[in-house]
Amino acid sequence: MLRFLTAGESHGPALVVTVEGLPAGLPILIGDVADELARRRLGYGRGPRMRFETDDVEFLGGVRHGRTLGSPLAILIRNSEWATGKWAEEMSSEPGRTASPLTQPRPGHADLAGMQKYGFNDARDVLERASARETAARVAAGTIAKVLLAQIRVSVLSHVVQLGGAAASIAHRPTPDDLAQVDGSEVRCFDPDSEADMIREIKEAAKVGDSLGGVVEVLGYGVPPGLGSHVHWDRRIDGMLAQALMSIQAMKAVEIGEGFTVAGVRGSAAHDAISWDAGAREYRRESARAGGIEGGMTTGDLLVARVAMKPLATLNRPVLKTVDVETKAETVSFKERTDVTAVPAAGVVAETMVSLVLASESLRKFGGDSLAEFVRNHDAYRASLR
Ligand SMILES: Cc1cc2nc3c(=O)[nH]c(=O)nc-3n(C[C@H](O)[C@H](O)[C@H](O)COP(=O)(O)O)c2cc1C
Repeated sequence: MLRFLTAGESHGPALVVTVEGLPAGLPILIGDVADELARRRLGYGRGPRMRFETDDVEFLGGVRHGRTLGSPLAILIRNSEWATGKWAEEMSSEPGRTASPLTQPRPGHADLAGMQKYGFNDARDVLERASARETAARVAAGTIAKVLLAQIRVSVLSHVVQLGGAAASIAHRPTPDDLAQVDGSEVRCFDPDSEADMIREIKEAAKVGDSLGGVVEVLGYGVPPGLGSHVHWDRRIDGMLAQALMSIQAMKAVEIGEGFTVAGVRGSAAHDAISWDAGAREYRRESARAGGIEGGMTTGDLLVARVAMKPLATLNRPVLKTVDVETKAETVSFKERTDVTAVPAAGVVAETMVSLVLASESLRKFGGDSLAEFVRNHDAYRASLR
């Protein structure tokens, strides 16, 4: 199984991620990680920070001559802003205190609950880690998961299906061949008719200093049947995916397949009929309502998971009422630099989390200390199904 752990604050010197459980012999380049980090910056409506945040990435361990060693893999992502010295004093690890504590917690952020829980009187002690900058470290780990999955011909991609009030048609879903087109869209939307509506929503929200949420759909192509298990609550892959997607900052709902829709129809219209394709010697489903998961296991069909992101809590026009924790006087929440929306970027993070779950469960099913062993076990299992 694959495990990963991140460390680092939003304006600290760097983020670090350690990935454990990889087989030896996986070809991996630092450029693969840098490319994914660049994808995480995509999206219309993102503020200047996204432009100057050039991620400087380095392998610290676990890779030799372009291949994994089977040992823990560690990746460093430097914060380019650190070099300017702007945050050196504010985020120093040396003893001291800030001259300007943030005492007006933002509704909808981790500020107040975190201050109460950890006994802080400066919201920065909370927000620096709660900030979604941490997702850069996850995306770095997710790159490795994607490279591993590619070895067994699994690909994971995402597209934005709703941004604010503008919803896209999902009559045509992107395939792995369409990824460049999705990434080429300013809102990472595959439906060109809805793209303009989404951009209009962003422009209108920006004009009044407001923010927007939305919905991202993650698709898993080539997923083998039988990842996850029905035998225990914590081995069900739908549960793992929901947890992984909900763990992304600002995600408030997860749907597998047509989860919310089928709740309102009869059973006869809710499930995916099974047929046998004699030519391909494979089972087929005649619809895709279950999102490729039954009984906590993947079915081998297209994996579909949707995740809903709330509007960003930090607004460029601070109007949300709060209280100053020092004086208890009513005020409006402080203004941090913020984007109008991060839904397009969140799609890349959602791909990451789904890839990490699929890679972990693939390693649990197929095992292998070396890549060759992992792939051989996978191929033998696939052959046995025919
Ligand atoms: C990719 C990404 C970017 C984000 N950018 C911002 C941002 O610019 N401003 C903001 O207030 N929240 C942003 N968030 C959301 C906050 O991190 C999140 O709302 C906060 O940590 C509180 O967690 P919760 O919303 O899950 O309760 C972003 C989330 C993601 C996934």
